[in-house]
Amino acid sequence: MSPRTMAEQGLSPKREPESGRLLAWYDRHRRALPWRAAPGESPNPYHVWLSEIMLQQTTVATVGTYYRKFLDLWPTVEALAAAPREDVLKAWAGLGYYARARNLHACARMVAEELGGRFPDTEEGLRALPGVGPYTAGAIAAIAFDRRAAAVDGNVERVMARLYAIEAPLPDAKPEIREKTLALVPQERAGDFAQALMDLGATICTPKRLNCMICPWTDECAGRRAGIADELPRKREKAERPHRKGVAFWVERDDGAVLLRERPDKGLLGGMMEVPSTGWTTGSPSDPAAEAPLKAAWRRTGRRIEHTFTHFHVELDIWSAQVPAHADVPDRRARWVKREDLAGEALPSVMRKIVAVMS
Ligand code: ADE
Repeated sequence: MSPRTMAEQGLSPKREPESGRLLAWYDRHRRALPWRAAPGESPNPYHVWLSEIMLQQTTVATVGTYYRKFLDLWPTVEALAAAPREDVLKAWAGLGYYARARNLHACARMVAEELGGRFPDTEEGLRALPGVGPYTAGAIAAIAFDRRAAAVDGNVERVMARLYAIEAPLPDAKPEIREKTLALVPQERAGDFAQALMDLGATICTPKRLNCMICPWTDECAGRRAGIADELPRKREKAERPHRKGVAFWVERDDGAVLLRERPDKGLLGGMMEVPSTGWTTGSPSDPAAEAPLKAAWRRTGRRIEHTFTHFHVELDIWSAQVPAHADVPDRRARWVKREDLAGEALPSVMRKIVAVMS
């Protein structure tokens, strides 16, 4: 049997990918996002920076309300820099990865106090700011300043791996993907190009049920032509997340106030509030009461929460104790918080789970 023609296989002649076709698609189908400048409008670097920091590891849908809240509270980088850090952490609660909130505040202060309120306009300058890694620097340089920069996140990696049928698994394929992305960035409209790639990855070139029929690069896509687009990008096998265990101590005073404590500034959930707990270890803690924040008649509640962080999973058994209304705080970082005020505290998600099961 003779080989099937391209037409019989439903393929048009192969075209080389170029930015123009994607930009034309973007002009018609761009998503209206709260932080996006309207066509013809100049982007505000503070808005671009704020949104990009929030969008690190958080979905577009979740970021929307936080982004608006931050701009309402702190309309300029100077206003954010002048805010008490505790207020910034409180407003951030629920977005996760609290090092980002601390870096956000440190970065605002650096820009306001050392750089005259102006964000650097190059990738290199942006990289020197707290909390700004290679992806974010590329995204801000392109979107806020139209620099020819590549902003390669997981979505863009997926699009590129498919477009060029890159079969090397991630993370090995990263340098090749970055190089190919950068080569595609146009001289003009680099910011629109970066956002167009994001939109393509979010709406058409999705992880599952990809919609090649309406993709502006369908004829250019080597992955589709090879019939492997939905298998890409390949990933190196990951080790399973380790499991840790601990005991959380729910202490209530007779007047209903609950004991919270501020975590150390450095490390996981640094500077956030917590329900005090034992260390989180591989096996169950051998003598939890010895690690309790105060001496009391501890009772196992039988309640438990679980939470998954990027690098591990934790299971916390909750113990509780009742103490007199005049009980003191056991250390400088601890304080009593009225039940009705718990919602307003800078509690990370794992701690909110404890509050939820104890309420
Ligand atoms: N993900 C990261 N940055 C983004 C942006 N500016 N728009 C949409 N999604 C994004």
